[in-house]
Amino acid sequence: MSETQKRKSDHIEIVSKKEVSHSVTTWLEHVTLVHQAVPEVNFSEIDTSTTFLGKKLSAPIIISAMTGGTEEAAEINARLASAAEKLGIAMGVGSQRAGIENPRLRRTYEVVREVAPNAFIIANLGAPQLVRGYGVREAREAIEMVEADAIAIHLNPLQESVQPGGDLDFKGVTSKIGRLVAELEVPVIAKETGAGMSMEAALALGRVGIAAIDVAGCGGTSWAAVEYYRAEEAGDEELMKLGKAFWNWGIPTAASIVEVKAVFRKPIVASGGIRTGIDAAKSIALGASAVGLAAPLLKAALISEEEVIRQLRSFILELKTAMFLTGAGNIEELKRVPVVLTGCLREWLETRGIDVNSYARRRAGLEPRVV
Ligand SMILES: Cc1cc2nc3c(=O)[nH]c(=O)nc-3n(C[C@H](O)[C@H](O)[C@H](O)COP(=O)(O)O)c2cc1C
Repeated sequence: MSETQKRKSDHIEIVSKKEVSHSVTTWLEHVTLVHQAVPEVNFSEIDTSTTFLGKKLSAPIIISAMTGGTEEAAEINARLASAAEKLGIAMGVGSQRAGIENPRLRRTYEVVREVAPNAFIIANLGAPQLVRGYGVREAREAIEMVEADAIAIHLNPLQESVQPGGDLDFKGVTSKIGRLVAELEVPVIAKETGAGMSMEAALALGRVGIAAIDVAGCGGTSWAAVEYYRAEEAGDEELMKLGKAFWNWGIPTAASIVEVKAVFRKPIVASGGIRTGIDAAKSIALGASAVGLAAPLLKAALISEEEVIRQLRSFILELKTAMFLTGAGNIEELKRVPVVLTGCLREWLETRGIDVNSYARRRAGLEPRVV
């Protein structure tokens, strides 16, 4: 097993067996959707479909990038992909570096397209690889491997910081991403991995023409935590200490969505700690176009494909119920329902120079009116 393969299998093992969540939350509990006692919507007619980067999804949900590169990963990918195909949602594969380094591992990713011929599939490569020399050729290889509809470039400086031998050179990363945007035939998504995107990052990525930003904020899986356990296994006390210190580092998902939305006009994916359809409804009302989930679906996929489908169906039912109770008949209407932002989320946004009241009113497309 190569070093990359060992890392992939460690990730699955640790995320499925250890407590790797942040102990800070997404702050979505500081976002309240306003209940409507007169919703004027027929539940049975609620339409959760949406268009994401030019392709129709039955619901605004992405199975976030997770894996590939090992036998177990191939089985997990097949289960997730089959669920995505059946439910009409999108799916990202994990970093395809393993498949590029070793062509024999390509089929652990290719299986996704075989099982999901129609789903929106997102290829994945890491920003550190771009800095180290990957470019348009490797990105095209990753895209072709899964006949991807888009490619995500993951930004994981926190994980690299706590990983043994991590890549700590991110200099020039923005222009490398820009080069992919200019030359690739599919949209390029910039994706964090659980520490969130700031408005500064969104501005830099927006300037090089990125097609979408996946905020992957704080409040779900902590990569400092995952790497803490890998350091523990390796008996590396220094990295264990670092992992513990940075366990909760990052921008909570709710704050990250608003930061990015304040400066970036293209689609935003809300992810990092999205656990219920209510989280999804809140994220969309805050400004996201779709949401992503990783760890819960990994655990479900380790049980069965049916378990993945069962969990996603219940998530969609929660989303629909939140739409019903806010009077939103479709996703475009959900994007404009009123939201109330309170507590530390409000303080954070004010500190960052975002006028919370006008943000909320603008989202709802209304200034208060009287009748
Ligand atoms: C086992 C596992 C492996 C992951 N591998 C990748 C990866 O290769 N590329 C990537 O962009 N994100 C990767 N992620 C990060 C997720 O896509 C996601 O951004 C993060 O886990 C936060 O979402 P969550 O709180 O729903 O788990 C991985 C997550 C998990 C749980």
